[in-house]
Amino acid sequence: MSTTFDVVLKGGTVVNHDGVGVRDIGISGGRIAAIGDIGPGKAGETINACGLHVLPGVIDTQVHFREPGLEHKEDLESGSRSAVLGGVTAVFEMPNTKPLTTTAATLADKVARAHSRMFCDFAFYVGGTRENVDDIPALEKLEGSAGIKVFMGSSTGDLLVDDEASLDRIIARLGRRAAFHSEDEARLVERMHLRRPGDAASHPEWRDEEAAIISTRRLVRLAEKHKRRVHVLHVSTAAEMAFLADHKDWVSVEVTPHHLTLVAPDCYERLGTYAQMNPPVRDERHRQAIWAGLAAGVVDVLGSDHAPHTREEKDHAYPASHSGMTGVQTLVPIMLDHVNAGRLSIERFVDLTSHGPQRLFGIRGKGRIAVGYDADLTVVDLKREETITNVQVASRAGWTPYDGKRVKGWPVGTFVRGRRVMWQGEIIANAHGAPVGFLEGF
Ligand code: DOR
Repeated sequence: MSTTFDVVLKGGTVVNHDGVGVRDIGISGGRIAAIGDIGPGKAGETINACGLHVLPGVIDTQVHFREPGLEHKEDLESGSRSAVLGGVTAVFEMPNTKPLTTTAATLADKVARAHSRMFCDFAFYVGGTRENVDDIPALEKLEGSAGIKVFMGSSTGDLLVDDEASLDRIIARLGRRAAFHSEDEARLVERMHLRRPGDAASHPEWRDEEAAIISTRRLVRLAEKHKRRVHVLHVSTAAEMAFLADHKDWVSVEVTPHHLTLVAPDCYERLGTYAQMNPPVRDERHRQAIWAGLAAGVVDVLGSDHAPHTREEKDHAYPASHSGMTGVQTLVPIMLDHVNAGRLSIERFVDLTSHGPQRLFGIRGKGRIAVGYDADLTVVDLKREETITNVQVASRAGWTPYDGKRVKGWPVGTFVRGRRVMWQGEIIANAHGAPVGFLEGF
């Protein structure tokens, strides 16, 4: 090879479509220009990656960064800082901000705020509502749009579409894959009395398995009726996993690190309301079913559902306590710990966090370590042991449910379009996030 590269990442173990092997990566103009054995003297800058694994940039397709309107919990800058410190190179952000992201103007406002303030690349979901249903085809096509997100059951914020007629209208108009929070609102309302004051362990009793499967059956039925692509966010029950295994034609599946890692009743005994999340963390039977779905390939992607709330908001007595926990910074270390424990392979991790998002959402130029693609890279040390602590968490919320947890496997470098944004726990570049692009027809 005679080319000169801006940067050469030397001697890392690259994990990509080609398998796992020691390869150099040459980067020019923010893109991957060569993969292989690159001789000396070919690079403006050479970075030693010996002993490290180089993964395609991790794409977290579910985060809540709270700006505008809820900046006391998080903003686009602090959320993306947390992302790149955790090895995440791009995020899809959720519309339950204030105002809600439901119009072209509110989406354009988020994109404008993100430019030059976000450290990773970004796309923003637009909330699907009864009011904007006719605008969906246009909203899906706007720059920075990740497509449509619908809350079928109420959670944080005011987005809710719970009647079949409105869901039918929304799904019929979809052009792109749309994401759904799938819990049945009628059942949630009917069972509110099951919440025991001061006892977060009653959260999964209230928001039970039946609430999730009723909603997911309805969603799949409508998707199949209209032949539209839908994405079921944070699948949390054994019943849904079994059902979805037989309904993958139009439907994709996300699971989260917390549903794979935390378990009831232990998490509620240890963490109380800090384990409170929608849909809830459930018992071991469900956790095993989610792992089985992951192993079987039913699961397409991992999303962190990073949903920061302040300690004050979490410290209210249940059920006044807010639902949600941080996660964008801990997704990679928590999952690498599972890799080291033999629960999934490093190739499957890459499939879930890079290849999967690219395949489902038609992301342009990302999700693969391949020549011509954006040089988005997550560099990890699979042998490094660390303790996760609240102090490390750059999210404004300032806490993690994994405080004190010892893990093996740690993100040590984040490259966004060729620029080294994070190295060894330090942010070393300015924010230069840009909108994620999507292929036509996705
Ligand atoms: O627990 C949750 N918190 N689940 C959601 O769906 C929303 C999220 C939030 O925005 O706080």
